[in-house]
Amino acid sequence: MKILFAASEIYPLIKTGGLADVAGALPVALRKKGHDVRLIMPAYQGIIEKVAPIQKTINLGNPFGVGDLLLLETHIPENNTPIWLLQCQALYERDAGPYLDASGHDFQDNHIRFAALSWATATLALHGELIDWQADILHLNDWQTGFAAAYLESWKVKHIPVITTVHNLRYNGSFDMDQFPRLQLSPELLSMHGMEFYGRFSGLKAGLVYADAITTVSPTYAEEILTPEYGDGLDGTLRAMKDKLVGILNGVDYEQWSPEKDPHISHPYRLETVDQKPLNKLALLQENGLSEDLNQPVFGVVSRLTEQKGLDLVLEVMPSLLQQGARLVVLGSGDKHLESGYLALQQHYPEQVAVRIGYFEDYSHRLQAGVDALLIPSRFEPCGLTQLYALKYGTLPVVRHTGGLADTIFEAGERANGFVFKDANTASLQAAMIRCMESFHDKNSWQEKQKNAMQYDHSWDAVTDQWERLYQSLLQREMPTQ
Ligand code: ADP
Ligand code: GLC
Repeated sequence: MKILFAASEIYPLIKTGGLADVAGALPVALRKKGHDVRLIMPAYQGIIEKVAPIQKTINLGNPFGVGDLLLLETHIPENNTPIWLLQCQALYERDAGPYLDASGHDFQDNHIRFAALSWATATLALHGELIDWQADILHLNDWQTGFAAAYLESWKVKHIPVITTVHNLRYNGSFDMDQFPRLQLSPELLSMHGMEFYGRFSGLKAGLVYADAITTVSPTYAEEILTPEYGDGLDGTLRAMKDKLVGILNGVDYEQWSPEKDPHISHPYRLETVDQKPLNKLALLQENGLSEDLNQPVFGVVSRLTEQKGLDLVLEVMPSLLQQGARLVVLGSGDKHLESGYLALQQHYPEQVAVRIGYFEDYSHRLQAGVDALLIPSRFEPCGLTQLYALKYGTLPVVRHTGGLADTIFEAGERANGFVFKDANTASLQAAMIRCMESFHDKNSWQEKQKNAMQYDHSWDAVTDQWERLYQSLLQREMPTQ
C-alpha cells in the first residue's frame, strides 16, 4: 500500500512530544512490512541540515499570499524514509519550536502555517503527477494536518481514503472566525456538522468530520473521549461518528529505547543483568549532586509540564515523601508556574531533588535508566509513551488509571508491572507512591514487577498488523464521489 503520512513533528528531525516518536516510528515499521509510506512535514529552521541532499524541488505556488510553497523531496538519513519538506520562509523559518515563540506563546499565524501544510498535503494526495507517486491512503495526525481533510471536502473531488489519528483532543486547533477566509476553504464547511466549533473553526474537528476513519492512540482513550469529561467539547461529534472511531495503542521503537543498546547510558543492562541498573542510578545521582544512598528509591519525571500531566499533584505530595527518604529527578518544560514550583522544591531539598528545565533527549534516556520509578499522574493520557519506555528500563511506572496508562500498567495480578491510582487527587497519588516505596523495600515484590515490566513487549511490529487491517478495510470500501 502507498500511504502519505502527514505530521507536524517527526523524530529524529524535530520533537516536542510523543507525536514525533510515533510519526518517526510507525511509518518505518510499515515500510519494513513492504508498504510504501512517505512523509510530509514543514521545513522548520535547521531541518534541511538533518536530511539527505534535496533530490527535487516542486513549486506549488503562493495560495496564501505569504510566499511560494516549495516541496523539497528528500529522505531521512537514519532510516531512509522518503519525505517532502514544505518550505516557505515566511511561515516556517523561525528561531523557535514548531508551535510556540521564544516566550512560549502560540505563533499568531499558526492557522496559516498549518493550513499551508494541510493544503500541500491534500494537493499531493490528489495530484500524484506532481511528485510521480500516487498515494492510496492519506493519514493525518492531530489538528495541524486536519485541515487537509477540509481542503479535499472543499474541492469536491473524488479522493483517496483519509484517516485522522487523534494524539491529543485537548489541542483542537481552533481559531477566530474572522480568520476563516484566509484559509481559502468553502464557507459551506462552517456548519455545526462541519468544522465550526463553538463559534470558531477547528482543524481537529475538520480532521474528524471529513475523515473516513478516526483512530486514537489507545482503546481506553477511544472510549473516554465519547464522554463530556474527556471529550473537550468534541464528545458529541465523536459519539455521532463512533462507528468510524477505533483505538490502536502506540508501539515502542526498541532501537531507540532499550537499556541493552542505549548509547546514552553508562552501564547497559537487560533483564538478566538488571543488577547493573543501580550503577546507572548512582551515575544519575552523582551527575546531579544528590545523596548517593542506593537503599532508598528515586522517583523520576520526564514530561511536558502541563495541566494534562497532573504534575502539580506531585509538587504537593513530594515534601512528605522526601521526609520518608525518597528522592526526585525531574526533566521537563512547559507551564511557567510548574517550572518555578519544581525549581523551588529543588532549592528546599538540594540533596534530594534535581530539576532540569528544558528539552534534552540524551538526559531523558539517562533518567529512565537511573531512577527506580517514573511518575505519570496524568489527568488524561491518550497513550503515553514514557511509561512504555520505563518498563523496558526496569523502571516501574506510578500512573493514574486513564487512557493508555490504564491499558498498559497494572498493579495487581499476573501482569503487575507498576502502581496505579484512580482519582486525580493528592491523597490517591500519595498512597500509590507509598505503596511503591514499600514495594521497593520488599525485594521479591519489586523484582517480580520489574521482571514483568522488562518482559512486556510492545514493539511496533505487533501493532502494524492492526494498521494494515484498517488501511486494507478502507481500500476495499467504495469511496463516495463528492
Ligand atoms: P506527550 O506526547 O503527551 O508529551 P508521551 O509520553 O506520549 O507524552 O511522549 C513524550 C515524549 O517526549 C517521550 O519521548 C519523552 O521522553 C519526551 N519528553 C518529554 N519531555 C521531555 C524533555 N523535557 N526532554 C526530553 N524528552 C522529553
Ligand atoms: C500525545 C499524547 C500522548 C501520546 C502521544 C503520541 O501527545 O498526549 O499520550 O502518547 O500523543 O500518540
